[in-house]
Amino acid sequence: MSFYEITGGRPLSGTVAVQGAKNSVLPMMAAALLAPGVSVIHNCPDLTDVSAAMDILRLLGCSVTREGDTVTINAASPVPAPIPEQLSRELRSSVIFMGAMLSRMGTGELAYPGGCDLGPRPIDLHLSALRMLGADIREEQGTLRFGWSRWPRGREVCLALPSVGATENAMLAACGCPGVTTIVGAAREPEIVDLGRFLAAMGADIAGVGESTIVIRGGKALFPARYTVMGDRIAGATYLCAAAAAGGEIEVTGLRGEHLSALLAILEEAGCVVYTQGASICLRSDGLLEGVSPVRTGPYPAFPTDCQPLLMAALAGGNGSTIFVENMFDSRYRHVNELARMGADIRVDGRVAVVKGRGRLHGASVRGTDLRGTAALVIAALSAQGVSQVHDLRYIRRGYDGLERDLAALGAEIRIEP
Ligand code: EPZ
Repeated sequence: MSFYEITGGRPLSGTVAVQGAKNSVLPMMAAALLAPGVSVIHNCPDLTDVSAAMDILRLLGCSVTREGDTVTINAASPVPAPIPEQLSRELRSSVIFMGAMLSRMGTGELAYPGGCDLGPRPIDLHLSALRMLGADIREEQGTLRFGWSRWPRGREVCLALPSVGATENAMLAACGCPGVTTIVGAAREPEIVDLGRFLAAMGADIAGVGESTIVIRGGKALFPARYTVMGDRIAGATYLCAAAAAGGEIEVTGLRGEHLSALLAILEEAGCVVYTQGASICLRSDGLLEGVSPVRTGPYPAFPTDCQPLLMAALAGGNGSTIFVENMFDSRYRHVNELARMGADIRVDGRVAVVKGRGRLHGASVRGTDLRGTAALVIAALSAQGVSQVHDLRYIRRGYDGLERDLAALGAEIRIEP
């Protein structure tokens, strides 16, 4: 298995253009199912999660091709083929195909989805939202068989939690329900807005994306669209936390500062100089971060859970203490034990983690546990004294398109060992 070999302690400098947003493009690929014809998605990152979504679309009778960062999807005549476990377990977002399959074909079958192991990944909110719209969903031996129990029509859908995936699933299903659907308690993430813009480009009548209440007038015939995906704010956060930890001065282009305002405020509190201009964010750091006030993850615009491992890795090699409270997932501290092998002092008690920065970490051989947890190990290795090996790069390939290429271009000493 290949791994990263990283020699830490070198400051980063230069400019990096961020990849397209994984968490936008995955629901968009499901949305392409809604329109007969050829949709084109630009700025689509080359990730194993995206490849898995392409395989699901092909299984459903679509032709899907990639040229560089452009993915072309022909959904002229899809078929409701069952999505098997080896495909749906590869991808957390596979569950989002339910809403799209209901909208376009009125039926489908899906093995329970997989994804990063961040604790239980329930889909009860997805299923209750689809059932509120009239879906009949049977769960039999780990497989979901679904169809419309009656003629679908729009209505009010209340989400008990602002779940990103459940909001997206409800949006896609609502497009296929004649009448007005109001999604109450919707997630407000920028990726939801990006999906809403793609659906509008397909002719959907949709309002309120980015707010807690989304209104969709469904049942209209949709047509294929050409769309450019927004920048990946979590990939951008990865580079910013790397520069904050290793020191130096970088510019990240292709994403908006307001999509990371909670993180940027904390990086400034930790001692970084941050400024944003249009679609670029600049950060300067001396590499020795101070402790900051408690970091509580929450639904957007609160501090993003995906940035928790990234910031923790940066602060672990600084000075001062920081308390983290992970409110979104039950076990999103699996990177802590690996950071401890590099000398990090982090105490975990349930949802709370206390990081005591005792100066530079030291290099070590460490192993990834999930997508952002493995990125956190890369950040720690970049700031540590000495050489580190980061194993299990399959997690990195799920969410980063050329992480080592971009970091090396910023001056990091990082290479893939076979
Ligand atoms: C999306 O996951 C992202 N993934 C995650 O990014 C991100 O961490 C998460 O949103 C929160 O922002 C994609 O968009 C592909 P949720 P999702 O539904 O939709 C609970 C990454 O690293 N919940 O908003 O699965 C759930 O257990 C990934 O890029 C239910 O209880 O997240 C969690 O505690 C990791 N029942 C909370 O809600 C449900 O039916 C938030 O989950 C659904 C969710």
